[in-house]
Amino acid sequence: MRRDRRSEPRRYDGNVAVVTGASSGIGRRLALDLAERGATVVGLARRLDLLAEVEAILRSSTPNSSTRGCDVGDTASYQRVLGSIEEDHGLIDVLINNAAVEQLTPAVDGLSAAYRHIFDVNVFGVVAGTLAVMPAMVARRSGIVVNVSSDSARAPEPGHGAYAASKAAVAALEAVAHEVAGRGVHVHVLYPAWVPTAMGMSGVDDGGSLPPKAVRRSEAEVSALVLRRMGGSRMEINAATLPLLAPIGRSIAPRSYQRAMRHRAG
Ligand SMILES: NC(=O)c1ccc[n+]([C@@H]2O[C@H](COP(=O)([O-])OP(=O)(O)OC[C@H]3O[C@@H](n4cnc5c(N)ncnc54)[C@H](OP(=O)(O)O)[C@@H]3O)[C@@H](O)[C@H]2O)c1
Repeated sequence: MRRDRRSEPRRYDGNVAVVTGASSGIGRRLALDLAERGATVVGLARRLDLLAEVEAILRSSTPNSSTRGCDVGDTASYQRVLGSIEEDHGLIDVLINNAAVEQLTPAVDGLSAAYRHIFDVNVFGVVAGTLAVMPAMVARRSGIVVNVSSDSARAPEPGHGAYAASKAAVAALEAVAHEVAGRGVHVHVLYPAWVPTAMGMSGVDDGGSLPPKAVRRSEAEVSALVLRRMGGSRMEINAATLPLLAPIGRSIAPRSYQRAMRHRAG
């Protein structure tokens, strides 16, 4: 990866980048921005109609870019897809494990199928992708993985137990980052703040309120931050700093924190 002069956006010419969840939202923006900056991008998701539109735009930037239908929750098939991308392109320089699902999982509903589905996609998908590319990256002493977590991991919201727990698991995969840091491979955990994508807006559409301005970010802002930071020495990529205070607030004022959360639970 080549860094241009400070004022110019970083380029990814000649790199092969895989982005999951490329059919919409943050993943789509990241895929398009990576291609615009010279990377050959392979975008993965399930909605083929949306992927076809993304592919056309990707190819206008880098003609070897493509998209493929892939359910990352089917870990064997996701790993097969990554293997075939490595065969087709020779290697994967960058993997962005961005795909995820979010669904309300009220405790009173018991152990619904949603828990397993959310963990299959949000956790096992990320684990499968990370571990599939790791041997080749470590052998080459080069590579970048960005695993997308959420501030829900730091401040779990009532009613969102499965999603918050899945994103906490992704955050804890930081263990892999430390394991391979000395071997030329960068594994980052991204906390995108709140972004008005389909997923971001679902909480608002369900009657929730917009989060404070301090944690609102656009898809373009999150993408620009990731493309600037990935491959650098900071393991965490935080789109907003306010949520970093949540665990501190919880430990120094536990009663107030719990009262606020009880209020949100209604
Ligand atoms: N928006 C926010 O405020 C926010 C905040 C914190 C973290 N995040 C995280 O940011 C990431 C991107 O979310 P977003 O906001 O951009 O939401 P989004 O617009 O709903 O995008 C989610 C993407 O994941 C893909 N996906 C879902 N299940 C999949 C599966 N089984 N296999 C493959 N792809 C799958 C979807 O594509 P298909 O349906 O076509 O498969 C879609 O492209 C997620 O990890 C999310 O948890 C978002």
